[in-house]
Amino acid sequence: MLMLVRSIPANASYEFAADVRAGLARPGQKELPSKYLYDDVGSALFEVICHLPEYGLTRADERLLRRHASDIVDRVGGPVAVAELGSGSGRKTRWLLEAFARRQRISYYPIEISQSALVMCEKELRDIDSISILGFEREYLDGLLEVAAYRKQGQRLLVLFLGSTIGNFDRPAGLDFLSEVRCLLQPGDCLLLGTDLEKTSAQLLAAYDDELGVTAAFNLNLLGRVNRELGANFDLTQFEHVARINPSERSVEMHLRSKRRQTVRIPAAEVIAEFQAGETIWTESSHKYSAEEIVDTALRCGFRCDMQWIDHEWLFAENLLVAE
Ligand code: TRP
Repeated sequence: MLMLVRSIPANASYEFAADVRAGLARPGQKELPSKYLYDDVGSALFEVICHLPEYGLTRADERLLRRHASDIVDRVGGPVAVAELGSGSGRKTRWLLEAFARRQRISYYPIEISQSALVMCEKELRDIDSISILGFEREYLDGLLEVAAYRKQGQRLLVLFLGSTIGNFDRPAGLDFLSEVRCLLQPGDCLLLGTDLEKTSAQLLAAYDDELGVTAAFNLNLLGRVNRELGANFDLTQFEHVARINPSERSVEMHLRSKRRQTVRIPAAEVIAEFQAGETIWTESSHKYSAEEIVDTALRCGFRCDMQWIDHEWLFAENLLVAE
């Protein structure tokens, strides 16, 4: 068993600075890209979110994978290599990998932008028999392109995209992303896509603004990270986490709201940002889907939906898509 963590390029902090500058200097709604939520502190806080009673998403995802692992593995068939886009801690993936490992030797390629998540994931899964793990510290599509080059003759690829990360794209960008994934696959390859389904506003607001304030800390950590890595002077007590329902987009939007008029300096990004009282920085949106919509979305991206498994305790779907 082998774990090879490859670092993201040395210009990563330059990219972070450029993205922060572009997001905060733009006219109208300021924004910071959500991928920067997941540094070491952010990844640890997100792990805690997944345990909160209000945030049922991760448990629903895991329940479905646990209950239906054998069925999923039988439908995918073999021989197959498994790639995962955003593996996180790897806990949910264990059920699938164990089911595969009972039938065949299995290569598992987690693709993550967070090195600490890759390390957690390797620790979590290394005891599974007949598994080899090779981690890629990469953006999703760059990583998948590399993984596709590792596949052996006659081996199919199963790509896991769990946890409803697809919901963090707006609908058109989600279609583009799935189409790009399809372009890296061959007919017969599979994509197991986790999608959070539409639910009540009360349920969503509680899930994205929990009582304990963990989600607030997770979101605010993004400003902390800008302070740590780009030498900025954000006063974290002067911003607050806000979760809002956007009914026309069928999404929950996460923002950081300035409590007063203030100026923030970010030397490494060469930005001086002015905030009005009440002005927000948009950090992420989480779009919710209907089960039928996913079948249609899959078709438009060159997949057919082979099977859907739905959790009724927390409305969530696992969708097995096959590349046509
Ligand atoms: N991708 C997760 C989701 O949409 C991440 C998440 C949970 C999140 N809570 C958050 C992102 C709060 C930003 C702010 O469910």
